[in-house]
This record gives sequence, structure tokens and C-alpha cells, in this order.
Amino acid sequence: MDYKSYIREIENFPQPGISFKDITTLLKDGEAYRAVIAELAKKLEGKQIDCIAGPEARGFVIGAPLAVALGIGFIPIRKSGKLPGQTIEADYALEYGNDKLAMHADAISPGQKVLIADDLLATGGTIATSINLVKQLGGEVIGAAFLIELLELNGRDKLDGVEVLSLVQY
Ligand code: PRP
Repeated sequence: MDYKSYIREIENFPQPGISFKDITTLLKDGEAYRAVIAELAKKLEGKQIDCIAGPEARGFVIGAPLAVALGIGFIPIRKSGKLPGQTIEADYALEYGNDKLAMHADAISPGQKVLIADDLLATGGTIATSINLVKQLGGEVIGAAFLIELLELNGRDKLDGVEVLSLVQY
């Protein structure tokens, strides 16, 4: 399927010079959304994965259905102040702006094999921080899966050698 034809590009959002990749136009098409999740699941076939962790908010719309498709659990990585239990946190820089990400301290058991999932790999800041949090909890990051990868930002280079899977590249 030509996923790009379902992804809307909006220029100068949220800042001048940024070409925003709007996946809402893909998500509202049930067939395209289902195909994305099915293709990611297929490409991950045969890998030993205990759970998927995905960062708020768009990481949830890829990570959670992918976890269901693979029959494994989903762990939310949230912006600071949202999780009710004891957390660990890390600062991160975005393509535009800064924030803090958090995970429940008991979300992952040491040695668990974790796949990180998100809608988009840009600078890699979000996923580098997610990898850092999972590792702090003793998890083993076995890969990172995305719908979209923005190649010119070289996000892969920030991911500490973690294997990257992306369906659509710009
Ligand atoms: C976007 C996107 C990725 C991240 C990619 O999320 O969903 O998580 O930016 O950028 P990076 O590779 O440069 O870190 P955003 O922080 O805008 O939050 P949202 O999902 O809540 O919209």
C-alpha cells in the first residue's frame, strides 16, 4: 500500500520551516491503519519481543495496536506528571521544543525484551530518551519501529545501534 498517499503534509506547522507529517488522515482510513499495523507485525515476525513501549501521544496509536497484533503487552511512556505510580524520568529535546518523559518504575522487569514503537523518527530525541528509560529499568531494547522516518535528520544515529524499522521514508 502507498502509505504516503494517506499522510497529509502541512507546511510551517507547528513552526515556520517544519513540514508536519499529519497521520490523522491515515488513521481515519480503517484499511490503511490496519495495513500499517499488519505490515509492522509481519516485519517483526520471528523476533522475540516481550512487550512494546511507546511514547505519548502518537506512539500510542502505533504501539498499542501493534502490541495487540503481536499478542504482547503495551507500556506507555508519558510526559512528566501523568503517571500515577512511582516513576523514573528523563529530559529530552524535540525537533521543536523540550520536554520530560516518564515511565512507571515497575513497568519493565529486568531482562525483558522491549520493542519501542512510535509514529515518526525525526531527530531521534524522543526515542533515544525512551531507550534510556527502558535500559534504566533493566529492559533490553531489541529494536525500534516507526511508521515514518525523516531521513535527513539522521535520527537513527542517536539510537545507540538499536535496529530501526520504518515503513515510510521522507
Ligand atoms: C512527535 C512524534 C515523535 C517525536 C519525533 O511527538 O510523535 O514522538 O515527535 O521527534 P524526534 O525524533 O525529533 O524526537 P511529539 O513530541 O510532537 O508529541 P505527540 O506525539 O504528543 O504529538
